[in-house]
Amino acid sequence: MKRLIVTLAFFCAIVVAGIGVFVWSGIYNIGADDHHTKPVYALMKALRERSIERHAKDIAVPNLDDPQLILKGAGQYAAMCTGCHLAPGMAENEMRPGLYPQPPELAKFRPDPRQAFWVIKHGVKMSAMPAWGGSHDDATIWSMVAFLQRMPGMTPAQYEDIVARAPQDHDMDEAGGHSHSHGAAADGDAHGAAAMEGMAMAMAREAGHSHAADGDTHEHAAAPAVEAPLSLEGMKPGAVPGAEAAARAFQAALQHGDRAAVLALLAAEARISEGGHTQTRDEYAADHLGADIAFLKTARITPVSLGSMPMGDTAMVGSESDLQATVKGKPAMLRSREMLNLRKDGDSWKIVSVQWQTAPVPEE
Ligand code: HEC
Repeated sequence: MKRLIVTLAFFCAIVVAGIGVFVWSGIYNIGADDHHTKPVYALMKALRERSIERHAKDIAVPNLDDPQLILKGAGQYAAMCTGCHLAPGMAENEMRPGLYPQPPELAKFRPDPRQAFWVIKHGVKMSAMPAWGGSHDDATIWSMVAFLQRMPGMTPAQYEDIVARAPQDHDMDEAGGHSHSHGAAADGDAHGAAAMEGMAMAMAREAGHSHAADGDTHEHAAAPAVEAPLSLEGMKPGAVPGAEAAARAFQAALQHGDRAAVLALLAAEARISEGGHTQTRDEYAADHLGADIAFLKTARITPVSLGSMPMGDTAMVGSESDLQATVKGKPAMLRSREMLNLRKDGDSWKIVSVQWQTAPVPEE
């Protein structure tokens, strides 16, 4: 037994000394153009993947469908990332081929949102990928993650268009002026919008629901009042006619109480958010759809605006309408905002997410 321990210790010492001599001798080629052997590369790849998976697994992902977040991310990406990761329509440059490991072309796949967030925030050791978390807050990093989900499938023209419409870096802070927002409700300062949203939440609680008229007493009646106001920034009428037609068909189906048509337009994986509460398609079919139809039947609806924005093989459609409705027996004028995220499915468009917000109509 004692002999065995001495022998093992001896071998360990030899190995350590061997590593020391190897390092000290300088024969290892550290050049980036001298690539790792296959087993070393496989080991490092496994280390990298397992480490990122583990560190990213509990990160909570915010709503990545918000067009304003995506627009902001487009601007950030164009400013900081294309030198290493390219973009649609961008040719190979002189730096990338010399980098080892090679930065992946991020227009060619959609990285997992949690892992992308972690890598952008913390960077990757012994690679060119910088940690951006020191200079950028989490919200800004999420904007890049949101944009990365949209970039694959974008044509060069769509990419240029979205970058051109992205907010400039200097007005990217939260309270930054909405220089080109459309619709009266989106104008004015962030405080005004927040106050309006507060009122809307109060009304929603009054009504028990942001859309349904009579008091349903679900737990979400007290939905968090912190939900950010929906922004329709970047939406252009006629930008994606097919998606806009699907959005109009969806609104018409709801107004006519045509349950089958409503459900046919919703993709199987669709999520429906009303007043800060989110349901799956099946939950919605069993629960709020009936209340929404009943409520809309009693309302007079005037469309205010509708526009869309292409996002690779998906599109966003944002719209506003005024609703003259009865809430708890009292007549009320509400402005409803709707944001749909649609995916092209063969020749037709399917809705993958719906966001609704309702607020009292702003003073004109
Ligand atoms: C100086 C070059 C460089 C810059 C600039 C750079 N990256 Fe990277 N990035 C890399 C490299 C290299 C890797 C691959 C690291 C590895 O494989 O170990 C990488 C990996 C990534 C990954 C992981 C992709 C995967 O395989 O899942 C993401 C996401 C990413 N970068 C996003 C960004 C974003 C967003 C920016 C801009 C804010 C950016 N990078 C800027 C070099 C760069």
